[in-house]
Amino acid sequence: MRYLGFSLRNNLFVAPMAGVTDRPFRQLCRKMGAGFAISEMVTSNSLLYGSAKTRRRANHAGEAAPVAVQIAGSEPEMMSEAARHNVDHGAQIIDINMGCPAKKICRAKAGSALLRDEPLVGRILEAVVRAVPDTPVTLKIRTGWDRASRNAPSILKIAERSGIRALTVHGRTRACGYAGHAEYDTIAAIKAEARIPVIANGDITSPEKARQVLEATGADALMIGRAAQGRPWLFREIEHYLATGARLAPPRVDEIHGVLLAHLEEVYDFYGVDTGVLVARRHISWYTRGLAGSAAFRQRMNRLSCAAEQRRAVDEFFLSLAGRNECLDYRPVDDNDIDGPVA
Ligand SMILES: Cc1cc2nc3c(=O)[nH]c(=O)nc-3n(C[C@H](O)[C@H](O)[C@H](O)COP(=O)(O)O)c2cc1C
Repeated sequence: MRYLGFSLRNNLFVAPMAGVTDRPFRQLCRKMGAGFAISEMVTSNSLLYGSAKTRRRANHAGEAAPVAVQIAGSEPEMMSEAARHNVDHGAQIIDINMGCPAKKICRAKAGSALLRDEPLVGRILEAVVRAVPDTPVTLKIRTGWDRASRNAPSILKIAERSGIRALTVHGRTRACGYAGHAEYDTIAAIKAEARIPVIANGDITSPEKARQVLEATGADALMIGRAAQGRPWLFREIEHYLATGARLAPPRVDEIHGVLLAHLEEVYDFYGVDTGVLVARRHISWYTRGLAGSAAFRQRMNRLSCAAEQRRAVDEFFLSLAGRNECLDYRPVDDNDIDGPVA
């Protein structure tokens, strides 16, 4: 796929997810079939540029092009400054967050709260596009603030007028949170009106669903978030299905054992071991959720506080799985057993 002047392997994008899509995870998803990945959002507050978290989020060492950074904020000047700062630090695409429903972000009138103020949307988009004239700027939104004010089509027009180069739509309003189903008909209506690429997002969890969403929306690309947590190989599964109409066999236990161990090493290296062990717990939990014996394993694993113990526990768990099956056999999980979104 050609996207904003870059050549991508396919039209399957990794959704930005704060606390999840760090550099190790983005790189892994791309290795396992994603065409493109956007970094977790970074603040537009320059006072925080020096914080360890913001610096880590701006670390793109060794990441394949195009490097895309998402910025969040509510002040046109600060957002412009953030865009310039990130371009100076390697961003090749700037994505603007107008979809985040988190209270902390919305109270600051950023994220999805901006959808309630169309003139401010226009001022932010124009200012950011002007600030980085050689860098494509894209926008990510929800369908509106609430069901009574689904103004995504109007935001599309403002975006196009402002020089935004692509629009991602999570098919829910802010008020919907993550409840109910993504509205693909709204995304289809936006796509029908759009002169820029439209990326459909929300609830894409399988190869079949991916095809259904592409057909229902006519979108140029799909963006996948939660379903890729602990399943980075979902991208190659979707890619294969879209190309052939056939499902890939589930991955072999020994392959994913190796993928997870390598992922852990990247996480320890990226965060340092102490923080890395904590970050790794969440990923291990996602990889193993739904596998035989995982509930007891995760309880035990969450008490381990050093990397060597974590590696050993993962080894033991996967070796026990390999003794039972050659391929991973995920069972449906109880919703109460799923880590909910944080943003
Ligand atoms: C843990 C988590 C963190 C998220 N952080 C961001 C973010 O930083 N920026 C953003 O635009 N969306 C964020 N999102 C929203 C996702 O990008 C995506 O729009 C949403 O999860 C719907 O897609 P899905 O159904 O494929 O997960 C986040 C979602 C989750 C679950």
